[in-house]
Amino acid sequence: MVRCRRGGVRCPVIYDVGEDWIVMEDVGRVSVKDYLKSLPQTSPLPSSAITCLLSLTNSIISIHSSSCIHGDLTTSNFMYNPTSIIPLDFGLSTICAPNMGEKKRKNNEMNGGNNNRIESFAVDLYVLERSIISTHENGEEMVKVIVNEYKEKSREGDRVVQKLGEVRARGRKRECFG
Ligand SMILES: Nc1ncnc2c1ncn2[C@@H]1O[C@H](COP(=O)(O)OP(=O)(O)OP(=O)(O)O)[C@@H](O)[C@H]1O
Ligand SMILES: [Mg+2]
Repeated sequence: MVRCRRGGVRCPVIYDVGEDWIVMEDVGRVSVKDYLKSLPQTSPLPSSAITCLLSLTNSIISIHSSSCIHGDLTTSNFMYNPTSIIPLDFGLSTICAPNMGEKKRKNNEMNGGNNNRIESFAVDLYVLERSIISTHENGEEMVKVIVNEYKEKSREGDRVVQKLGEVRARGRKRECFG
């Protein structure tokens, strides 16, 4: 959380930590899940839902730009506030390798290095996608808004969204064949 805050993510302020406790800023009572469910469940999505989903996506992009994998992206793990969307629940989060930049990355791949960073971000998005589809009535439409925004706004968006396609295909295969 501290790492994400340093990277500009609007996470709760951490006041104190102990061995098995943490004191942090109270960031409200309304989760993104509650907020989206309170809106008309229409298709196309109401503009307020789109605005909220775009902020949610930009928060995720900032988390990923901080080289952090959240590990449990769901609409209930983000709080809604009219001026910001605030991620919570970093209990499953991990840190990944920094963004190497195009030249170093290509060299790394040519030398057989894998690209766990992109794969991890794609899996993070896949977890969110599955959770949204099972939680929200217009989940498929919501996912499209998120994926398009991620692709457009993240510096690594093209590669992550391409990888997301592979992760989905693996998921479908698992569903069919166990
Ligand atoms: N900083 C905070 N400000 C306001 N509410 C919070 C904050 N942190 C946690 N909460 C509330 O507590 C709930 C559970 O927190 P969190 O998701 O971190 O724990 P959890 O053990 O993973 O619980 P869950 O299984 O419900 O996700 C959140 O959904 C939110 O309603
Ligand atoms: Mg939680």
